[in-house]
Amino acid sequence: MTNPSMPIGAPLPGPAAGGGLDQPAVTESAAEVHVATKLEETAGPGEKEVLRVEDLTVSFPTDDGLVRAVRGVSYAVHEREVLGIVGESGSGKSVSSMAVMGLLPKSARIAGKILYRGDDLLKKSAKQQRALRGKKIAMIFQDPMTALNPVYSIGDQLAEAVLSHEIMPRKKALARAEEMLALVGIPQPNRRLDNYPHEFSGGMRQRAMIAMAVINNPDVIIADEPTTALDVTVQAQILETLVQVKDQVNAAIVLITHDLGVVAGMAHRVLVMYAGKPVEIAETDRVFYQPRMPYTAGLLGSIPSLEGNGAGSRLRPIVGTPPSLINMPTGCPFSPRCPLATGICREVEPPLAPTDELGHVAACHHWDKLAEVDDPTVFFRTESEAV
Ligand SMILES: Nc1ncnc2c1ncn2[C@@H]1O[C@H](COP(=O)(O)OP(=O)(O)OP(=O)(O)O)[C@@H](O)[C@H]1O
Ligand code: SF4
Ligand SMILES: [Mg+2]
Repeated sequence: MTNPSMPIGAPLPGPAAGGGLDQPAVTESAAEVHVATKLEETAGPGEKEVLRVEDLTVSFPTDDGLVRAVRGVSYAVHEREVLGIVGESGSGKSVSSMAVMGLLPKSARIAGKILYRGDDLLKKSAKQQRALRGKKIAMIFQDPMTALNPVYSIGDQLAEAVLSHEIMPRKKALARAEEMLALVGIPQPNRRLDNYPHEFSGGMRQRAMIAMAVINNPDVIIADEPTTALDVTVQAQILETLVQVKDQVNAAIVLITHDLGVVAGMAHRVLVMYAGKPVEIAETDRVFYQPRMPYTAGLLGSIPSLEGNGAGSRLRPIVGTPPSLINMPTGCPFSPRCPLATGICREVEPPLAPTDELGHVAACHHWDKLAEVDDPTVFFRTESEAV
């Protein structure tokens, strides 16, 4: 059922998109747009928890051994909250989200709990799960071209997304599709309904994906690298649209990215993943200014524009690579790359534990060492920078 309280039909102050229908592809007038929305200006998180993931583990049997892709992920998301999930490639961000969406291959071994408003999705029948996923929990993928069908018009695909969950006349579903296109800032939505995906620019396609995600009035939107394929200006526009739409439909967002810079100003809280586990969870400002896990400090040092990294705008990637998920080393998985590692780090994997701030947890034996310095990225300076 559509939520009658949903304020639909009010177009957002989206970008002035270039191009009319006489043009083959819609382009964004990127130069004129800047990010206007700040997270504080949108409605904050509510009291009610909508999604809770408890000790989720996912592994894949392969010829080389068991890939332990997700090794105990727990988090909760509240109404209208934006939770950023950040980590390097291969840290288990997508696999943990695909588990929530029920989109993992059959070979995956899944354990733990995925609670939607208190109900464990993993205990529901396939039919019950399908009814929730895509409707109450929606997903936006990195590449809209793989999610959109090239042979159907945008309008048909949006209408189909409605009709697969709700019985209504097709005309009504198309009217809803038009409202959603307006909501995500697509101009002349009534004419755009007949366009095919290739007639939209990359940014417009991603807007269409957001429209598709919100068309059934979801409680949670999982956005997995929604802007990685787009240029920086269009990225900012799309993220702005996402935050605005969150308020329009009253949804929470789980924003997945490998780029810590993307969650600044976008997420209320951040969960940092490493080697299949959360290693730090805190409010976004704390993660940026007072991280308590060296890996997070290393990620901060690799954001070019962050103030106070001691290296101007220099990019300083963390040296080394993440461990094999088949043969995990003993101790802290970050120890081979960590400038603060000591003997205990190589023997005992630290659990996620409270730090010096309520609600700020980190998996590090020596988090207090980061609390002693003003700029925690200092530990990741190269020798030439230190001179
Ligand atoms: N079907 C599968 N079979 C075996 N291993 C898999 C499978 N799917 C994912 N993996 C492995 O699980 C690990 C976590 O993958 P995941 O896609 O979650 O990473 P990610 O954090 O989303 O990375 P990226 O930033 O590159 O998207 C990776 O090592 C990946 O190779
Ligand atoms: S536990 Fe040790 S190796 Fe791991 S992040 Fe903390 S200091 Fe570094
Ligand atoms: Mg991924």
